Amino acid sequence: MAEFSLPANSKIKKSGTVHKAAPDATRIKNFKIYRYDPDAGQNPHYDTFEVDLDSCGPMVLDALIKMKSEQDSSLTFRRSCREGICGSCAMNIDGTNTLACTKAIEDVKGEVRITPLPHMEVIKDLVPDFTHFYAQYSSIKPWLQTVTPPPSGKERLQSPAEREKLDGLYECILCACCSTACPSYWWNSDKFLGPAILLQAYRWLADSRDEMTGERLDELEDPFRLYRCHTIMNCANVCPKGLNPAKAIAEIKKMEVERVV
Ligand code: SF4
Ligand code: SF4
Ligand code: FES
Repeated sequence: MAEFSLPANSKIKKSGTVHKAAPDATRIKNFKIYRYDPDAGQNPHYDTFEVDLDSCGPMVLDALIKMKSEQDSSLTFRRSCREGICGSCAMNIDGTNTLACTKAIEDVKGEVRITPLPHMEVIKDLVPDFTHFYAQYSSIKPWLQTVTPPPSGKERLQSPAEREKLDGLYECILCACCSTACPSYWWNSDKFLGPAILLQAYRWLADSRDEMTGERLDELEDPFRLYRCHTIMNCANVCPKGLNPAKAIAEIKKMEVERVV
């Protein structure tokens, strides 16, 4: 799997503080964690945390929570569900974007190196700034748009076959692992929507109940918003939910072609 570059503001000093494990620790694993505090006015650096695996849960998120609880309460990261549903603990672990709560510590050989998702501004430590990502999400109008009243007067039904078309799309948790692994998004994120948002766009294009397909395709028909995807496939390789944004992007391109022939 490809190694990804560090966040945009990373002039990283080689090392910072070493947070020692308790003297009676029996099974120590070293974690090298990216630290950045804009209020401190210093360049980013790595701190090392020694974690006793015999008193720690099995996942990388368990280790981060233990470090914060027992060694350095200022260590900052996002998390909520701790079961791969909310998408908030996305970060780069051992060179790959993934979810800290579903990444097993034992799957990383040697020292565990953790940095924020690449190529996003960093707010603090492992917390990237998602403002632009969410603005792009909002731009695709991620809700059901209709003009006709519901046929039954109450709800809009789908056949099992129509509903099946949303499989592989509705599971996206907007963690941004894919977009921040995409070279096209790294260099053009001001204009290219990136794999996560385009997969979400296709989720509404594929929904049999939505009545704004033409308008949605008009919005995407743009050299940058859609066509900066060059099918490099990093997005599908890293998605922690096993989804394939590149395939969704290809489906959108196909819809754009089919409506003009
Ligand atoms: S497609 Fe996968 S990697 Fe991308 S935002 Fe959705 S869940 Fe995360
Ligand atoms: S397939 Fe497209 S969206 Fe996915 S990583 Fe490659 S360029 Fe980015
Ligand atoms: S804490 Fe929710 S996905 Fe990891």
